Amino acid sequence: ITVDWDAVTAEKGGYEHFMLKEIHEQPKAYRDTMRGRINAEGNKVILPELNITEEQIKNIRNIQVVACGTAYNAGVVGRTMIESLVRIPVENDIASEYRYRSPIVTPETLVIVVSQSGETADTLAALREAQANGAHVLAITNVVGSSIAREANDVLVTLAGPEIAVASTKAYTSQLVAFGLFALYLAEVRGTQTEAQVAKILAAMQALPEQVEEILAQKEAIKGYAEQISEHKNLFFIGRGVDYAVAQEGSLKLKEISYIHSEAYAAGELKHGTLALIEEGVPVIALATQEAVLEKTVSNIKEVKARGADVLAITHQEHLTDLLRSVDQVFVIPKTLPMLTAALSVVPLQLLSYYASLALGHDVDKPRNLAKSVTVE
Ligand code: AGP
Repeated sequence: ITVDWDAVTAEKGGYEHFMLKEIHEQPKAYRDTMRGRINAEGNKVILPELNITEEQIKNIRNIQVVACGTAYNAGVVGRTMIESLVRIPVENDIASEYRYRSPIVTPETLVIVVSQSGETADTLAALREAQANGAHVLAITNVVGSSIAREANDVLVTLAGPEIAVASTKAYTSQLVAFGLFALYLAEVRGTQTEAQVAKILAAMQALPEQVEEILAQKEAIKGYAEQISEHKNLFFIGRGVDYAVAQEGSLKLKEISYIHSEAYAAGELKHGTLALIEEGVPVIALATQEAVLEKTVSNIKEVKARGADVLAITHQEHLTDLLRSVDQVFVIPKTLPMLTAALSVVPLQLLSYYASLALGHDVDKPRNLAKSVTVE
């Protein structure tokens, strides 16, 4: 017998594309990024690799999270984690904008740069700008020996393993885990959360890998929906809070590999302009996981529905009764804490862009005009 294979096929481990393989590697990436960083009792984060002292942490007055693309989107979720757990003000900055806006940095500013590759030119330049202004820079990166890892004052490595597909998936979700761990670590040092609260969040984080498996088991449903939307030229993602942050990532992913135009909108902002674009049959993907604003999100869904939108809601089982009458289709994700939902709700959106790209016959792993690592400004 002869077996047809080549090195690339072998590396794909039986998957048709690296992207699909990497989407499926997310439960492992979650586990690997958490491994050894939670104490045996499950109520404390341990990050011995960090150089930042407890005193420096206690003195932090503000945090700036700087990154590009998907890493930027992860930082937006990271902001909500840090602000809600530690109550330190956090700003998100696009790296290519950061150094040209004269950022206000003091020695009490912690700058977190996020980069899968650790080689993105704009992010590296932002790191240097922050250091030149006296900031302590923590890098969240997937590549240990990268330029960003070498130049940062501190490195929190994500253990997602090599990411080959241009569209970032497991790096994003591992960055969320890294943010969760770091936010809890800050909370411990600054005493802003009780041990019981930390334990509750860590337990929810440790449940994520299995919950992602549950979502992956339903991928056929997403495939069917992706085939439907692949016939459209425009679509919208809406959400509030963390859901809005995930909407941005879903929209980026869809544009990047399916070339379908989409916009992510803060649901409450629609009526200030974008609602004019909603007409009969326009697909709207509504993320509705945030209990605190559910009622508001439902009323925004009704606004688009009344203009003829075709709405897919991504939500939790317990929100169904509030939503069912105003949507056309529903994709249910397992329940987790509101601040962790991004780690789950992004998965159907990754699958959606993958299957839409596939349906349109595009090169999923190597989309036109894009490179995996952008090492020029
Ligand atoms: C994500 O799907 C993109 N390919 C892109 O936005 C990427 O996240 C961005 O270029 C940043 O890369 P980095 O994480 O390696 O710095």
